[in-house]
Amino acid sequence: EVLDAAGLHVLPGAIDVHVHFRDPGYTHKEDWDTGTAAAAMGGVTTVFEMPNVIPPTSTPEGLRAKQAAAAKARVDFGLYGLLGEENLEHVEALVAGGVNAFKLYMGNTFGDLPSPSTGAMLEAFEIVARHGLRISLHAETASIMARRTQRLRDAGKDTPLDHLRSRPAVVATEAVSRACVLAEWTGARIHVLHISSGDELRPLREARARGVDVTGETCPHYLLFDERAYDEIGPVIRVNPPVREKPHQEALWRGLADGVIDMIATDHAPHAPEEKTRNTIWQVDCGFPGVETQMPLMLTQVARGRLSLTDYVRLSAGAPARAFGLFPRKGALIPGADADIAVVDLAREERIAAGALHSRAKVTPFEGMGVRGVPVHTLVRGRFVMRDRALVPGTEGWGQSVGRVQRMPEPRPRHVDQTMAAITA
Ligand code: DOR
Ligand code: ZN
Ligand code: ZN
Repeated sequence: EVLDAAGLHVLPGAIDVHVHFRDPGYTHKEDWDTGTAAAAMGGVTTVFEMPNVIPPTSTPEGLRAKQAAAAKARVDFGLYGLLGEENLEHVEALVAGGVNAFKLYMGNTFGDLPSPSTGAMLEAFEIVARHGLRISLHAETASIMARRTQRLRDAGKDTPLDHLRSRPAVVATEAVSRACVLAEWTGARIHVLHISSGDELRPLREARARGVDVTGETCPHYLLFDERAYDEIGPVIRVNPPVREKPHQEALWRGLADGVIDMIATDHAPHAPEEKTRNTIWQVDCGFPGVETQMPLMLTQVARGRLSLTDYVRLSAGAPARAFGLFPRKGALIPGADADIAVVDLAREERIAAGALHSRAKVTPFEGMGVRGVPVHTLVRGRFVMRDRALVPGTEGWGQSVGRVQRMPEPRPRHVDQTMAAITA
């Protein structure tokens, strides 16, 4: 089968290490079919999917339920296991069962999964350090947010902007700093999800200079919106961590340029339209879909000269492949060497419309934005899953676990506490 790609560019498919597909448990928001349809339409060939579903992906049974739901996938996927205070005895079984990374919530967000104490977190890091899998962190300190939110609510404050006020940048920065200390102590590999502030970049940079294996992502919404979004977009912009003030946005762009931020992910977090427009901001669910719009939005930044195409490819595919061990052959230089490809038209212009999204959640803060640069074909392991801007029928179930190719480097645990190791083994 010959593809005429005259005038098009052939890029590695994007690897989005941060999506929530809600299945099982919240399939009115999304499921593996609609979520991976959105990925295929967005030029995304691999996703890493989060554990805040029902039942949470925190036990072997939870993992089996997730694997059963993921059988519908159209693109390749990694699965996150939850790392919480109450499930440390399941970590070995989750690894044996095939999780590809772990997720630890330092603060509460959708799903209300409790955040482990610092003590439990240290133990969790020690256990996972023995396996070498990366731990992705929702780095927001629960106790700071809880107090701020309560103060605001008691004072009757409930505008969209009050969501930002409830989570100042110290919330994320304190969590990133603490996580880096625990990672240094244990030798755990960590990944800082959704970096939203300039302040987080300093502990990240310093930890890396000390040899901590820490990677970090930011998301299109932090790069493209600032505090004006609370008035202009309203409650739909509510997301954890929040979109912040202009100086933070500028610092994130500098962080991309100087390499302290390794990659772009989306935090694809679909909710039904009615869940995004409730009476007070405190009742509005946090997050919005992103996996389908990342590539057009970022290619638009390439068209505007804010980012080079090679930097975009590194941020969307090369860096996540390296951080999560997705090199199919030893020494292979091209991530996704098994033909995970996005063929893009860098000159094509479109307008983002929620109603046209393939996510079940027809709501996006990017509504109406003009983009230049759109994926027109997506191939997963050499097979078209999206062709000429249309889903290819019959590709449900083509997606496979990345376990097939994932090879993390050898674990390097440090400061192994022999007493604890014996107890928790
Ligand atoms: O806004 C968010 N939504 N932030 C998170 O951390 C979780 C996510 C979700 O699952 O809805
Ligand atoms: Zn999060
Ligand atoms: Zn998330």
